Amino acid sequence: MAAAIETIGLTMTYRHRGQFVEVLKGIDLRVEEGTACAFLGPNGSGKTTVMHILLGFLKQTGGEAWVLGTNVKQAIERQRIGYLPERPQSYPFLTGNELLDMAGRIFGLRGRKLKERRQDLVEMVGLNDAARRRIGTYSRGMLQRIGMAQALINDPDLVILDEPTGGLDPVARLDVRCIIETLRGLKKTIFFSSHELSEAELVCDHLVILANGRVVAQGAAEELVGDGERLEPYFLKAIGARRAA
Ligand SMILES: Nc1ncnc2c1ncn2[C@@H]1O[C@H](COP(=O)(O)OP(=O)(O)O)[C@@H](O)[C@H]1O
Ligand SMILES: [Mg+2]
Repeated sequence: MAAAIETIGLTMTYRHRGQFVEVLKGIDLRVEEGTACAFLGPNGSGKTTVMHILLGFLKQTGGEAWVLGTNVKQAIERQRIGYLPERPQSYPFLTGNELLDMAGRIFGLRGRKLKERRQDLVEMVGLNDAARRRIGTYSRGMLQRIGMAQALINDPDLVILDEPTGGLDPVARLDVRCIIETLRGLKKTIFFSSHELSEAELVCDHLVILANGRVVAQGAAEELVGDGERLEPYFLKAIGARRAA
């Protein structure tokens, strides 16, 4: 199987107030095409930094990364990638529909095709009538839904979602899970970060656990966690073991 995401020995050092802080300490990752991978780890473990490098927003200080077969040092195929940032921000004066129209046009969608795509997505993310309202009036859950629809407007092969369930109530979280399930059914590659372990476990084929800038575990949930065991104690042990090391 081909890898949609691959990194080898990825490192990132920030310079902060004259000091060098190594936040990624050699990350080896592999996400196969058509699979859902949960990227887990406590706050500050480096998840967003990895995603930003994959998307070309940040340049790594060491190691290599490929997205859909292209080295991130070259121009990656943006039209094949969808991205939901950790805190999606939109123009408050646009309606949800207007935002999706704008995003669709960037990817060359026009006329009927754009309208159909927009309507499908509004339905898929459960925004429905709210899509006609201004984004400035949206709740956190609605912002996440419109952000998700925007990330999917170009029908991407790879979807990178940074904490898609962050700050959502249980119902909205369940909806996000359903959207991820739908994308999985469509054979998209999904790379999503989370610290909701029990949730992530339900919708991923594969998980990667990051702690303190290092991968401390990687594999299928059922391979990592024994029969009848839960992910949470495993996760705590994995990150604890690294902390103790
Ligand atoms: N621009 C920056 N300058 C200095 N340190 C940063 C910068 N961005 C992130 N960091 C640090 O890098 C670490 C990893 O952050 P991040 O990738 O956002 O983690 P996560 O997404 O897992 O919460 C954190 O300790 C954070 O404080
Ligand atoms: Mg983050």
